[in-house]
Amino acid sequence: MMESAAKQAGERARELGGRMKAERGGVVVLDFGGQYTQLIARRIREQQVFSAVLPCTSSIEEIRKLEPAGIILSGGPSSVYDAEAPKCDPKVLTLGVPVLGICYGMQWITHTLGGTVEKADRREYGRAQLSVEDSKEQGGSHLFRGVPASLRVWNSHGDHVRTLPEGFRTIGRTENAIAAMEHKEKKIYAVEFHPEVNHTERGTELLRNFLFRVCHAEPKWSGAAFIEETTRAIREKVGNKWAICGLSGGVDSTVAAMLVHRAMGIRLTNIFVNTGMLRKNEFEETLEMMRERLKLRVIGVDASERFLAQLKGVTDPEEKRKRIGREFIAVFAEEAQKLQAGEAHGEIGYLVQGTLYPDVIESVSVKGPSATIKTHHNVGGLPEKMPFALIEPLRDLFKDEVRRIGKELGLPEEILVKHPFPGPGLAVRLLGEITRPHLVTLREADAIVVEEIRLAGLYVKVWQAFAVLLPVRSVGVMGDGRTYGLTVAVRVVESDDAMTADWVRLPGEVLGRISTRIVNEVPGVTRVVYDISSKPPSTIEWE
Ligand code: XMP
Repeated sequence: MMESAAKQAGERARELGGRMKAERGGVVVLDFGGQYTQLIARRIREQQVFSAVLPCTSSIEEIRKLEPAGIILSGGPSSVYDAEAPKCDPKVLTLGVPVLGICYGMQWITHTLGGTVEKADRREYGRAQLSVEDSKEQGGSHLFRGVPASLRVWNSHGDHVRTLPEGFRTIGRTENAIAAMEHKEKKIYAVEFHPEVNHTERGTELLRNFLFRVCHAEPKWSGAAFIEETTRAIREKVGNKWAICGLSGGVDSTVAAMLVHRAMGIRLTNIFVNTGMLRKNEFEETLEMMRERLKLRVIGVDASERFLAQLKGVTDPEEKRKRIGREFIAVFAEEAQKLQAGEAHGEIGYLVQGTLYPDVIESVSVKGPSATIKTHHNVGGLPEKMPFALIEPLRDLFKDEVRRIGKELGLPEEILVKHPFPGPGLAVRLLGEITRPHLVTLREADAIVVEEIRLAGLYVKVWQAFAVLLPVRSVGVMGDGRTYGLTVAVRVVESDDAMTADWVRLPGEVLGRISTRIVNEVPGVTRVVYDISSKPPSTIEWE
């Protein structure tokens, strides 16, 4: 386990290497397992400085090779006193590269350099008031330049720093703790709160101060630079091999395909599989869009029979996902074989996927110790042994970043704004056993939900809007007769990155129209309910 984590870390550092160097001066975020780690990297990219996350276990050689302009040590759930407390190589503090420790990062710096960290009985969450100690006699701290002397900050920590390591000075305090420190000559800074979350007042300015005043990073990273560098990195990675890409019809896999297409040209073949669990008309419409408008080479495979056969009698959600993941790979492997026997002149060694950061974080812990939330999504559903290596050019990005890249690549608006759709498709929106008649019912109900949301002008404003079919029967009355039909749940959520979400307070008339139309137009449905659960504690999809 340790060995494979280290190997993964090495591979990732190599992949990032070229990109980081080409950008001359990106920022490496070393992950101690904090829930906001990737958000830190994203905030930095928002300042047009390239940034990516590496596990804290990355070797010093790997980090040095990236030639970063700065290093950020993330937060994390541990105490430095835990037996299993994550560590990074203490040499990150003597590379001569500016360092910013956040929360656990600050405690780790303190502990490592000989200060003392006080063990707390319980974690402290939420708001605190920070007093900036930015004495001009001592030259003032770069970190707090231009911000007010008192700031509302967001805390989520257990232990506190009690005494500073030698050479450090306190530059900020909250009521009961040292909240910020610096060693100006060594360019090591640390804060106990989280400047990357929105709840911290002027947090972005603190990060900007670190980037531009301390690291002297240059704001030149952009969507165009990402496209250039990713194209270059893919070329380097694949050598003369060929690749296939699993298209889903959504923005992520389309952007991934466009990027890899730029890098590999005809050596990339896209495959769009009809699993039988797509939405109404989706197979035909997507194929046309990809081929005619985007000029991608796409093989359309109608595999609905075999997917349905695999799912016969299966009701457990995880089992559904696993079987679908396995079947996807079987279809891809067969198509790859056909290509290999035909037009491909090189080995088909790669499978391209549009995996995003939230998919990674919620599926498997691959970046150091970040906690695993659950095993699903397109990555989690894949079998461990696969005949392909993966190319996932978007795995550090959030959805809105991918949409920006897609815009830069010239994708049509309708793809850019398209709602996310899970890899296992309607299988995770049809509770219980999947049957053909129930799929038809769900498809019709879903089409009504989406159509009404569009007509109300809400489609681009909400994150997702869809129908879920529940195997729950209830009594109704239609005309003079008694009916006994199924239930449709309507789910409409708003979200920034799918990691948290809230249900949309839809106008009553819109809900009314959706309900009336579904019961009138979709045979076998007698009842419509609206899902008013947020994430957490619920998830967006029902399975
Ligand atoms: P949950 O249900 O976990 O979903 O709150 C978060 C976001 O991810 C989408 N989703 C998936 N996407 N493969 C995917 O590509 C999957 O297996 C999968 N499961 C959920 C979901 O639609 C939501 O946007």
